[in-house]
Amino acid sequence: MTESQKTATLTVHGESYDLPVFSPTAGPDVIDIRKLYGQAGVFTYDPGFTSTASCDSTITFIDGDKGELLHRGYPIEQIASKSHFLELSYLLLYGELPSARDLENFETTITRHTMLHEQMQYFYRGFRRDAHPMAIMVGVVGAMSAFYHDSTDVADPRQREIASHRLIAKMPTIAAWAYKYHIGQPFVYPRNDLDYASNFLRMCFAVPAEDYEVNPILARAMDRIFMLQADHEQNASTSTVRLASSSGANPFACIAAGIACLWGPAHGGANQACLEMLEEIGSVDRIPEFIERAKDKDDPFRLMGFGHRVYKNFDPRATVMKQSADEVLDLLGIEDNPKLQVAKALEKQALEDPYFIEKKLFPNVDFYSGIVMEAMGFPTSMFTPIFALSRTVGWVSQWKEMIADPQNKIGRPRQLYLGATSRDYVDIENR
Ligand code: SDX
Repeated sequence: MTESQKTATLTVHGESYDLPVFSPTAGPDVIDIRKLYGQAGVFTYDPGFTSTASCDSTITFIDGDKGELLHRGYPIEQIASKSHFLELSYLLLYGELPSARDLENFETTITRHTMLHEQMQYFYRGFRRDAHPMAIMVGVVGAMSAFYHDSTDVADPRQREIASHRLIAKMPTIAAWAYKYHIGQPFVYPRNDLDYASNFLRMCFAVPAEDYEVNPILARAMDRIFMLQADHEQNASTSTVRLASSSGANPFACIAAGIACLWGPAHGGANQACLEMLEEIGSVDRIPEFIERAKDKDDPFRLMGFGHRVYKNFDPRATVMKQSADEVLDLLGIEDNPKLQVAKALEKQALEDPYFIEKKLFPNVDFYSGIVMEAMGFPTSMFTPIFALSRTVGWVSQWKEMIADPQNKIGRPRQLYLGATSRDYVDIENR
C-alpha cells in the first residue's frame, strides 16, 4: 500500500493523534488505526464490522448505493452475459482475462482434477442419508486435507496453486455426490468431455439405468448462477476463510470453515430459507400478512432474500438472476410457477412499502436463485451447496491474495470487556 498523504485527527482523553488516511481506487477512504492502541491506549469498537476494512484487495468492488459489482473492474452484468464460470475463475485467480491459449490450458487443468480420491467416497457412507448436504460438504472438504498432502504447504506458491485448482475442480463432484448420497442414488463420475456446469448437472441427474442429456440452456443458466455467486468482497464466509488462513491452516480446512459460515440463513442459507418462505406464504393474497410480520420488531420473521449489509440499492446479481428465472421457467414451460408469481408480487409490494423504502431493503442474490434451482430439479437442501460450489473460487482467490500479502499476520481482534473484574475464589462451603 502506498504511503498516506492525508491524515485524520482523533482526540482522546484530551490528547490528539494524527492517523494516516488511505484513498482507494474506488470506494471510501480508510483511516489506518493499526498504531492507535499503541499510541492512545484505546481500541475501536465495531461489532459486525459495519465500518471496518479488514484488508486491502484488488479482486472485487461493490458500490452498495449504486448497486454496482465489479470483478477485477469488470461489471457483473457484462461478465454474466459475455463470459462463463471458468473464465471468470481465471480472472478472479490471476487478475486479468485470459488469452485463448491460457483459458484452454486452465480449463484443461480444472477438467483433469474433477475426480476425487476413490477412498473419499467412504466419508459419505458415514453420514445418515437424511444428513443436510452442507453438513456433508463441510466434512468432506475438510477431509481433503487428509488426502492431498502435496498441496497443504501454504508457504509454497506451487502447492497453493495446485490446492486452488483441486478445490475449484472437485467442488462440483463433492456437491453432486452429497446430493446423490442424500437421495440414495449411486455416485456419477465426472466426464472430461463436458463443460463445468454440464458436468455438474449430469453428476446430479444421471443414473446408471439412464443417462442424462444436458440441456444447453439449463447448462448456461447453471453456469450463470455459478458466476453470480462467485465472489463478493469481504462477506462473512470470505472473512471466515481469511481469518482461518491467517493462522497458516491448510487451504482445505479454511475452505471448510467458509462453507460452515455460508450455511447460515442470514448468509448463503438464505436461498433455501427464501424458497421455504415463499412456500409458507403460498399465495399472493397472503403477502400483506407476511410484510407486516417482517416489519414487526416483536416478530423474528424477516423477508428472506431481502436486504443486504452493503447493497442499499438493487443487488445487480438479483436482476440477472430474475432474468434467468424467466428464461428457465419459460424453457421448462412452467410460466405459472406459483412461487415465482408470489416472489414477483412480494417484490413489488415490498418495494412500494415505506418501511422497506426507508430502510433501503431490496431483493438480494438469494431472492430469485432458489426459484431457478428448484425449476432445474434441485431440492431446497441443495441451494446452499451450489452457492458454496460457486463461491469456492472467490474464497480461494481471496485466500491466495492474503497469503501473498507481506502485511499478512494472524487476525486477533480485541474486545470491550464488560465482565467481572478481578476477585478471589470462594470455596464451595462458603457460597
Ligand atoms: C448474502 O455480505 C454479502 O456480500 C453476502 C452475500 C454474498 O454474496 O456473500 O451477498 C450473500 O448473504 C445475501 C444476504 C442473504 N440474507 C438474507 O436474505 C436474509 C434476510 N436479510 C437480513 O437478515 C439482513 O438484511 C442481512 C443479514 C442480509 C443484512 O443485515 P444487516 O446489514 O446487519 O442489517 P440489519 O440487520 O441491521 O438491518 C437493518 C434494518 C433492521 O431494522 P432496524 O433494527 O434498523 O429497525 O433493516 C431491517 C432490520 O430489522 N431488515 C429487515 C430485513 N433485513 C434487514 N427487515 C425485514 N426483512 C429483512 N430481510
